[in-house]
Amino acid sequence: MIYGARSKDEFAMLDVGCYDEIPLTTDDGSLGIKGFPSDVLAERKEKFDYVYTCDPKIMMAKVLDIMDFKNVQVSAERYMKCGIGVCGSCALGEYLVCKDGPVFHGEQLKNTELGKFKRLPDGRILTYD
Ligand code: FES
Repeated sequence: MIYGARSKDEFAMLDVGCYDEIPLTTDDGSLGIKGFPSDVLAERKEKFDYVYTCDPKIMMAKVLDIMDFKNVQVSAERYMKCGIGVCGSCALGEYLVCKDGPVFHGEQLKNTELGKFKRLPDGRILTYD
C-alpha cells in the first residue's frame, strides 16, 4: 500500500499506528515523502504484484501508465444521471461506468479519456491541461 494525502491533517486513522511499513506521501511534504503515491509507485514498481487505485483521475492515469495497463484495477467515477445505462453521461471510452463498472481492469481503459478530461454535471468537457 502507498497512502497519500494533500497534507498531514488529511490522513485518516494515522493514530492506529499501522503505517510504519507503508510509504506515506503528502503533496506539501508535511508528512512522509513529498510528492504523490504515483511517484513512489514509479520508483518501487517491482515491489507491487497488483495495484488498486481510485481518484484523483490524473493519478489513476499515471498509475495505469506506470503499470503499462497491466495488473491494475481502477475504481472509476463519473457523473451519473440515470444510473441504468441509458443516458450515457457516465461514458468512459466504450464503457458505461454505471453499468460496466465502476471497477475496471487496466487493459479495459487503455484507449479511453481517463486522465485527459472529465465531464462536468452539465455534460461540458473539462480538460486537465
Ligand atoms: S448514468 Fe446514465 S448511462 Fe450511466
